[in-house]
Amino acid sequence: MATTPLQTLFRPHKMGHLTVPNRVFMAPLTRNRAHDDGTPWSTTATYYAQRASAGLLISEATQINPLGKGYIKTPGIYADSHVEGWKAITDAVHAAGGRIYCQLWHVGRIRHVDIEPKGEQPVAPSAIRANAKTFTHDGFADVSEPRALSLDEIDQIVEDFAHATRCAMAAGFDGVEVHSANGYLLDQFLHSASNRRDDEYGGSIENRSRMTLRVVDRIVQEIGSDRVGIRLSPLGEANDVQEDDPTAIFSYLVAELDKRELAYLHFVESFAGADRSNENAEVLKSIRQHWNGFYVANGAYDAEYAAKYVDEGWCHAVAVGRDFLANPDLPSRWLTGAELNAPDQDTFYGGGEEGYTDYPFATLGR
Ligand SMILES: Cc1cc2nc3c(=O)[nH]c(=O)nc-3n(C[C@H](O)[C@H](O)[C@H](O)COP(=O)(O)O)c2cc1C
Repeated sequence: MATTPLQTLFRPHKMGHLTVPNRVFMAPLTRNRAHDDGTPWSTTATYYAQRASAGLLISEATQINPLGKGYIKTPGIYADSHVEGWKAITDAVHAAGGRIYCQLWHVGRIRHVDIEPKGEQPVAPSAIRANAKTFTHDGFADVSEPRALSLDEIDQIVEDFAHATRCAMAAGFDGVEVHSANGYLLDQFLHSASNRRDDEYGGSIENRSRMTLRVVDRIVQEIGSDRVGIRLSPLGEANDVQEDDPTAIFSYLVAELDKRELAYLHFVESFAGADRSNENAEVLKSIRQHWNGFYVANGAYDAEYAAKYVDEGWCHAVAVGRDFLANPDLPSRWLTGAELNAPDQDTFYGGGEEGYTDYPFATLGR
């Protein structure tokens, strides 16, 4: 029987130590519903279990240490209560037949001093304040002035990533995704606008890539390469990072990552991922060609574009953000052509069950 493009999305594929049953992944989505100490909310188990038909669930960004937190009510993965809280969530996902990776996060300079631990200045590659906002207990606020990390502190952060990885494994995650995208700490090291260091972490593309690669290598040392993915945003300018020549640094970084044979590489391609007819598409292509493993594409993919790009071999899977948030049964909706629920932006960040666990299934489901 000839496969239609949509059926292409439902062919299982090996990805690291897992076999994913389909190519429709859930993108990491911060929802700001955790307790102030970083312990996830119990209802989060229902939220992720509802979406367990994803080929892979990637958790919301989860801080690896106290200063890694930049917004209110985001979860952590470094304390016993975090491990316990996440264990209930991964158990619920596995009971529902799903797979879930933990996105490991340090916000770097995207932090306000009023966020717990209160009064602590943000840390960053260099003492350069971002032109960006974060969400505090009093609403949106400009991020605070950061201080530059010392070499000892950099070593400690690498160890904190390793500790968080051990916690994620103890909590029953199937693997971890290193968040090196969207202008957070690791991405701040990559970009010259946020990294003016004159030591081995700044200047050349090799030096600016060093922190991300050290973190990856340390995590691989902990759990092996086949449980580790990484997210990059080569074209992204989120949180005030710009790059004049993204091809140079990201080609080098991706080629280095390729040697590590990680479970997957995940790109935020754009917020309008369907448009490939522009200059950005050429830049992405030239960077992506350095990667030979499983590739996850993200950015405004719908069913038609996902099927087309998987079928053509551009990507092995797509990660879907807003439409997965609003449609717990997104893969089957794509397969059957069912109409999609519209995402409600007012309930994206913070709140309770509304806009979280109450989006309806297309058919009678969980
Ligand atoms: C509510 C919301 C929260 C997000 N949180 C994260 C996050 O925690 N980590 C991350 O890497 N990206 C995050 N993103 C970006 C998404 O993962 C994704 O890149 C973006 O929504 C584009 O994909 P889409 O067009 O399928 O929605 C978030 C986006 C939204 C809308």
